[in-house]
Amino acid sequence: MFLRSVLHGQCLLIAVIILSVIVIIYFTITLEHLHRIYNILDITHLQDVLLSNSNPTPGRTIFFHETTCNNRSSEDSQFQVMNLTVRQACAIESAALHNPNFDVFVLFTCPTRRPLSIAQKSLINAIESYSNVQFRQLDVKRYAKGTPVEVWIKKGYVLKGRFPVHHTSDLLRLISLYRYGGIYMDMDVIVLRSLEDVPLNYLGAETFDLLGNAVISLKPNGTGHEIAELFLRDFQINYNGRHYVDNGPALVTRVVTAICGVKLVKAIQEDSKTCRGLKLFNSTAFYAIPWQQWEHLTKPQYLKDTMEKTKDSYLIHLWNKVSSRGLIKVGSNTAYGKYAEKHCPKSYAAAGEYF
Ligand SMILES: *[C@@H]1O[C@H](CO)[C@@H](O)[C@H](O)[C@H]1NC(C)=O
Ligand SMILES: *[C@@H]1O[C@H](CO)[C@@H](O)[C@H](O)[C@H]1NC(C)=O
Ligand SMILES: *[C@@H]1O[C@H](CO)[C@@H](O)[C@H](O)[C@H]1NC(C)=O
Ligand SMILES: *[C@@H]1O[C@H](CO)[C@@H](O)[C@H](O)[C@H]1NC(C)=O
Repeated sequence: MFLRSVLHGQCLLIAVIILSVIVIIYFTITLEHLHRIYNILDITHLQDVLLSNSNPTPGRTIFFHETTCNNRSSEDSQFQVMNLTVRQACAIESAALHNPNFDVFVLFTCPTRRPLSIAQKSLINAIESYSNVQFRQLDVKRYAKGTPVEVWIKKGYVLKGRFPVHHTSDLLRLISLYRYGGIYMDMDVIVLRSLEDVPLNYLGAETFDLLGNAVISLKPNGTGHEIAELFLRDFQINYNGRHYVDNGPALVTRVVTAICGVKLVKAIQEDSKTCRGLKLFNSTAFYAIPWQQWEHLTKPQYLKDTMEKTKDSYLIHLWNKVSSRGLIKVGSNTAYGKYAEKHCPKSYAAAGEYF
């Protein structure tokens, strides 16, 4: 009798131990480790830009950042799937087409899978037919490591602000340039000419007292790297989560004006040597059509005038924040359509009815 109850107790104990072990294995190994193993084996996942075996070449890379996943909670962002608009594809394609000796890195801010839908797949295939296009994902905290914002980024101010998508993008472009130099571009541009022979270290003016941050080029070393550091320090010190442009155009204008030591208009017009080798293009280069006139790119009645105004531009910038609702019909007589047809032919062809 006594022996039986001891045996019974032991069995119960063993059962409880086995059950606990199963529970522990389930929650630690199954969820955590199997997920990680699955990610490594899962070829549909983009590679991390820092862990992949082909890295951006310093000073010979064009960067695009896709940050829309930063609009959601980090839990949801585990499941991001590549979902580029045809206009974003066009920006990437035109950059790759005109700059074959540069790599074009498109960096997604969250763990990102390759698409399953046929339309998206064919768009991605069209862009990847350019051998210099590279899709990667990044981890913002890891990407900021070794930069002036490494500690600050962990406080999460950018994600808690009113414009997490845009402000993450404002910050990541500066980190990319700090890490690698090269050229950063917004995804709402069409590149019209090669930038390969334009010496690095430049920005473009939107007006005579405001620089844009949709295109920034810096050398990976020397003054270029020092300016990237000044940008990042200013971002941290003056970060304002409530204002859309404070950490973008206003930031680069503030920092560059301090570097130049003269009024911006003077630095732009005189092609001044006072800006420590930084070239400031006037609005013709990247911002020939101001944001208030974005419809001049998408409406037929402005075609002739807009083509004339942009004939010497390196690229056109479409001001996506205001223009994204203004889709054009494929084949229409608009400046945006004409330029897309010529400078991103594959994306334009994949667009379907509207672009
Ligand atoms: C972010 O999400 C909000 C609410 O869902 C939406 O109104 C807004 O347009 C989104 N912004 C971007 C840039 O995707
Ligand atoms: C892709 O984005 C479009 C809007 O641009 C949306 O309608 C669609 O549901 C998205 N698809 C996926 C798979 O997220
Ligand atoms: C920057 O790097 C380039 C290429 O390696 C080199 O030629 C140049 O002298 C460097 N400039 C400075 C200021 O270190
Ligand atoms: C910009 O500079 C070029 C010469 O470099 C000039 O032809 C053009 O008119 C200027 N554009 C503006 C808007 O001032």
